[in-house]
Amino acid sequence: MSEEIIHRAEKLTGDIVLPGDKSISHRALMLGAIAEGETTIANLSPGKDVQSTRLCLEAMGVAIRLEGGLIHISGRGPGGLTAPDGELDCGNSGTTMRLLSGILAAQPFPSRLTGDASLSRRPMKRIVTPLSMMGAHIETGPGHTPPLTLHGGALVPIDYVSPVASAQIKSCVLLAGLYARGRTSVSEPARSRDHTERMLEAFGTPVHIDGLRVSVEGPARLKGTRIDIPGDMSSAAYFMVAAAMIPGSEIRIRRVNLNPTRTGIMKVLREMGVRFTEENHRTVNGEPVADIIVKSARLKATAIKGDLIPQLIDEIPLLAIAATRAEGITSIRNARELRVKETDRIRTVGENLKKMGVSVEMVEDGFVIPGGQSLTGTILDSYGDHRVAMSFAVAGMIAEGKTIIRDAGCAEISFPGFYDKLRETANESFDAS
Ligand code: S3P
Repeated sequence: MSEEIIHRAEKLTGDIVLPGDKSISHRALMLGAIAEGETTIANLSPGKDVQSTRLCLEAMGVAIRLEGGLIHISGRGPGGLTAPDGELDCGNSGTTMRLLSGILAAQPFPSRLTGDASLSRRPMKRIVTPLSMMGAHIETGPGHTPPLTLHGGALVPIDYVSPVASAQIKSCVLLAGLYARGRTSVSEPARSRDHTERMLEAFGTPVHIDGLRVSVEGPARLKGTRIDIPGDMSSAAYFMVAAAMIPGSEIRIRRVNLNPTRTGIMKVLREMGVRFTEENHRTVNGEPVADIIVKSARLKATAIKGDLIPQLIDEIPLLAIAATRAEGITSIRNARELRVKETDRIRTVGENLKKMGVSVEMVEDGFVIPGGQSLTGTILDSYGDHRVAMSFAVAGMIAEGKTIIRDAGCAEISFPGFYDKLRETANESFDAS
């Protein structure tokens, strides 16, 4: 298993471009596959999760090719997917399994979705319930976990009230709703990322938004289009937090997605005292994009909770690390969803912080972390979770001595080349031109 050795960094500087957003990439492939005509995608995420989506779609007859640096998809139209020969392997990707289930629930053929050990432990009742209400018949493993066997067919529209603020649940129901005759709606308790809604509009399919209730009208016919995918805010976050914590740092991150349902990390870092400069604002396929410059700051503790949580859920491991450096006690609450991510991130992040000598209280739905602590380099486990691996590489940069991350290669799930890029920023001089 791959290991990465991380040394304490003097300061971070650089001018970087990040891989395409993972959430937007999954959606571009799926919508391109069921649209009519050709879709071209620029800057698709090179991560393994998005590759899982691509392989599943190819197994259902979708032609996807790389040409001239762009991904080209020959859309199969609403009824054009073909029965796969075998199981559809979603790898580590919850987004692949949950969103694809929405499409598969409407297909006239059965399908079986499997995943790796981590995905095989993740809860699927949250999508089985609404899809069953729409008329799909779905079998699961014990405790509503994968594998999923879907017997799809004609669906009826529903008005679903989701108990969890989850873009994967919302998107699953909306995708199924594209095939049901009439209006399918989903309401959620707080706003989750809205990339599906924005991208459906880019594919010519109207989405009705009424507060926290989102609806589509079916049957819908999507029209192939060109999608330019901005840099991933969740990948930018590693550099933002590292630069914020290491004195003398200044990093420019180009063309980052600034969708307000994803910028919770910037809101919290601002509250903690970090100043960002944003340049070159533009909107691409309905998604706001800009270049961001971030500098180091003296960090202050804050309370992270409530409706903000879905807007920074994947960045909480990083915020827990930043909290160790802040003045005062940081609390992170209402984040129970962390328990059902690629790992139980309250446990895996808490354990790793403790191994680094940090005093941290893990509570049922988050953490309480006193600031002003120093971290000690040691041997850490990624637990096979890409965000844990990358977050603790950032922790290693502020620790005394060296930090070894075991099973570090899982960073490839969302960010191939992450460690090299992080090291580059620790050496290169900043070009402000
Ligand atoms: C995602 C939604 C979030 C997020 C995940 C990607 C998406 O999951 O944590 O990394 O692309 O829709 P939930 O919907 O489970 O909150």
